[in-house]
Amino acid sequence: MDPKDEIKQKLDILDLVGEYVVLKPSGSTGFKGLCPFHSEKSPSFHVSQDRQNWHCFGCNEGGDCFSFVMKIEGMTFPEALMHLGKKTGVEIRRLPTTQSNVRARMLMINDLAQKFYRKVLLESTKAISARSYVTSRNIPPELADRFGLGFAPDEWDTLSQFLLKRGFSETEIVQAGMSLKRKKGTGVIDRFRNRLMIPLRDHHGNTVGFTGRSMPGDEQGPKYMNSPETPVYSKSHVLYGLDLAKRSARDEGSIIIVEGNLDVIASHKAGVEHIVASSGTAFTQDQLELLKRYTQTIIFAFDADAAGFKAAKKGISLARALGFDIRAVILPDGVKDPDDLVQKDPSLWKSLVTSSQPIMEFLISQITRGKDLRNIDDKRFVAKELLPALGEMVSVVEREHWLQVVADLLQTPIDQLRPSIPTSSLVEAVVISEKPSPMEKQLSKEEKALCLLFGQMISSEDIFDTFRKRLEKVCHGNEAWMTLYTLASDTYDSGSQPAQKSFFLRIRDMLAGHPKQDSLEELLDSSSFMADETFQDLPPQKVLEYIDHLFSLLEEHAQGQRREVLARNLRQAEAMGDKEAVSRLLAQLNE
Ligand code: UTP
Ligand code: MN
Repeated sequence: MDPKDEIKQKLDILDLVGEYVVLKPSGSTGFKGLCPFHSEKSPSFHVSQDRQNWHCFGCNEGGDCFSFVMKIEGMTFPEALMHLGKKTGVEIRRLPTTQSNVRARMLMINDLAQKFYRKVLLESTKAISARSYVTSRNIPPELADRFGLGFAPDEWDTLSQFLLKRGFSETEIVQAGMSLKRKKGTGVIDRFRNRLMIPLRDHHGNTVGFTGRSMPGDEQGPKYMNSPETPVYSKSHVLYGLDLAKRSARDEGSIIIVEGNLDVIASHKAGVEHIVASSGTAFTQDQLELLKRYTQTIIFAFDADAAGFKAAKKGISLARALGFDIRAVILPDGVKDPDDLVQKDPSLWKSLVTSSQPIMEFLISQITRGKDLRNIDDKRFVAKELLPALGEMVSVVEREHWLQVVADLLQTPIDQLRPSIPTSSLVEAVVISEKPSPMEKQLSKEEKALCLLFGQMISSEDIFDTFRKRLEKVCHGNEAWMTLYTLASDTYDSGSQPAQKSFFLRIRDMLAGHPKQDSLEELLDSSSFMADETFQDLPPQKVLEYIDHLFSLLEEHAQGQRREVLARNLRQAEAMGDKEAVSRLLAQLNE
């Protein structure tokens, strides 16, 4: 069997898409969620398990498992084939392009380096101090293993030599960020020396880079040293711990965000696994969109004196503009970070996380702390600090709720406060980046009706058979629909082999190799999804009524068009004085 087909047979699109999008059942057979390809607040992204395809009515994109992976991972088709092949255990003979080849080799270098550092930490006599450092930080062996911790020995080029022996060139290991060119002379040295090595992984769990923590007492360089940007590592795209947080984030319905990588590791020790680290920098829109695939709710953890809050401010604004539900966890006084807390009281960390509060509550308590709200200056200060946050809220319901809270707090009528809410440039930027929906705009009423109708007609052989004649008539005169009608007809006439395949999938098979395959497939897919949306939850009687209504609408429209043609011909015949034609056309018109 063709590997493409074999993959399709083994893979359920629902599982695949479910890794990226929170899907909820929609109607009796479909699923829907927020589209991962454009930002939106109400779900228009649909997945059909029966048909094994997806479609978004917002951005009008759609397709099968391959197109989904290509789009969401930015892969080429061969890369998507390799990726899904690996997932389903279908062997694909390698056919990488030069570009994917570079990426593949960078990943291999990172993977080898990770294994090397890991082995050094576990076995080498040069890692005695590193092993005791891991112990002193209370990281049990099981966790060190889960996070792949390793050690870069205090030597000039052990890793570089190891990678060179494995067949990688100096240029490649420098490009992968593992080595540096010697300033004097030739050759390369290791970038990371005498550091505890924490692999940075993408959300699939591939090692794409490292952060190395300095050993206690070694003051050379920064406390944490990171891989540079490489073909496989981009700081603004990776969130530490996401590969391990995905599943638990789904179950918990939220993801906790902390600053430090070691906070993530410690949190796992307390059994809290829906957690990622921003690695001490501001959130980017890319990172937030990555998170959006798994959850709508993010929980920030702050120390009691709110130093972390100031650092997170920009990220919070952006998350708000992207429509996240944002909550906060406040660490007890005297606790520096989650790691610190877990070492002191793991169960307290766990319970703090489950009792997180809305970020606005936290913000209000921070800003009003030590202020006297009867004093006009304090009042003005509090308003100035709180109102911008309201401007960033995309949900009107949410904004009104907090506006009321602030109004009560300041003892000011809500309508007097409203004009002072600044409009957020962030919200505008995010809203502008939402794509318009070409589908909705370009289709006329009749085109929509036909699309909807056709989708319903191919939902089963029975319904197709019942309305076949009527369907042919309304497709008549439109090339694309007529082609699809003929394909459906031929499929129907060819009998129901293979029996386990649905009518829709058999029509799609028939389409293979057609010169207009792509555009026809798109039409077929979107019409099916439109029909799902409209029909799937109507009682049978209503379905029939609606079908009849759509047919009537199209038939009347076609009749109107025929009448126009006749009238035009009649005018011509009159102008030419062709009496015989005039009377024939008149008779036809009256009919
Ligand atoms: P912290 O200084 O709070 O470190 O920086 P930490 O996580 O508590 O580390 P330990 O417990 O002292 O080992 C938070 C994060 O900021 C980034 C790292 O990602 C770190 O986890 N950072 C910090 C750097 O990238 N470089 C630095 O020099 C320091
Ligand atoms: Mn720490």
